[in-house]
Amino acid sequence: MTTFRDGLLAGKTAFVAGGTSGINLGIAKRFAELGAKVAVAGRDPDKAAHAAAAIGEGALGLSGDVRDYAAIRGVMERVAGELGPMDIVVSGAAGNFLAPVLGMSANAFRTVVDIDLNGTFNVFRGCHDLLVRPGASLIAITAGQAVNASALQAHACAAKAGINQLIRVLALEWGPEVRVNGISPGPIADTEGMKRLAPDAATRQAHYDRIAMKRWGRIEEVAESAVFLCSPAAGYITGTILDCDGGSQIGDASRGDLAKGMV
Ligand code: HXC
Ligand code: NAP
Repeated sequence: MTTFRDGLLAGKTAFVAGGTSGINLGIAKRFAELGAKVAVAGRDPDKAAHAAAAIGEGALGLSGDVRDYAAIRGVMERVAGELGPMDIVVSGAAGNFLAPVLGMSANAFRTVVDIDLNGTFNVFRGCHDLLVRPGASLIAITAGQAVNASALQAHACAAKAGINQLIRVLALEWGPEVRVNGISPGPIADTEGMKRLAPDAATRQAHYDRIAMKRWGRIEEVAESAVFLCSPAAGYITGTILDCDGGSQIGDASRGDLAKGMV
């Protein structure tokens, strides 16, 4: 795997909301490998403790629900108090399940919007005065469904679309002190998200058919995108959403296959 140079994030403090499993834990681990002091948070305290142990010595694994502003604010106060003002904040907590609109109660829709969109507002709103300013970098984890609608995903499509706009508004309001960007992962192997959204062979195939690169993404590849966005290499990049998705959202990949067959 390509990598950024050792020590790139030495002396930096990074907090990853929803960093206790999957893609976000991969991001947290990579930040730590590159020298950052890292904290992660999720609802389940045991899972948070395991994640901290997996990240390495000195990492903090805290429990807090991003839907509860006071709770997540308290978590971030603790992070800044113990590890120092935050240079990097990732908002990645998410909830998801497949359901048609008519199979979704008002509470079901609200729950996903609350975790994904309101949670991102709470994390970013709550971290501002705990950031290293100027210089901090915020990253929200969004998804292609924010742009390309997907049946059975009304809650997540709406929430992630809201996140995309929140990223842009915050980039405007908080530039030039703070950069705010997003990462939009494609289907990433061995994740809870893929397990939930592609539970059977036919659905997996439908996802696969969309991918120009013709393979699933890897957690490590999303982590490298996060490192890029918070590194000096991205110093003039704000308000953008980086697709790390093998070209899943650019168009009709089946036409690409057709083209290959014609030459
Ligand atoms: C219909 C459902 C449902 C389902 C839950 N609900 N599952 N409705 N079909 N399969 C309804 C419940 O009946 C309830 O409504 C409401 O949703 C809230 O459910 P709770 O279980 O009380 O909520 P909570 O305990 O807060 O758990 C939240 C959760 C859960 C989202 C439902 O699955 C969770 O904790 N998920 C976190 C992990 C996760 O989802 N990771 C994958 C992220 S993948 P009623 O009316 O009965 O009270 C991802 C991919 C992105 O985000 C790509 C696409 C954008
Ligand atoms: P995951 O393993 O389920 O990670 C979700 C994390 O969020 C967990 O740490 C979970 O811990 C935490 N969390 C959930 N609800 C929370 C809440 N209310 N408060 C605080 N923390 C909460 O999922 P994943 O598949 O790796 O997805 C990670 C991110 O990538 C998500 O933003 C997702 O939308 C995005 N994404 C994933 C894919 C994919 O292929 N997997 C594709 C596109 C986008 P607790 O359960 O302990 O709270």
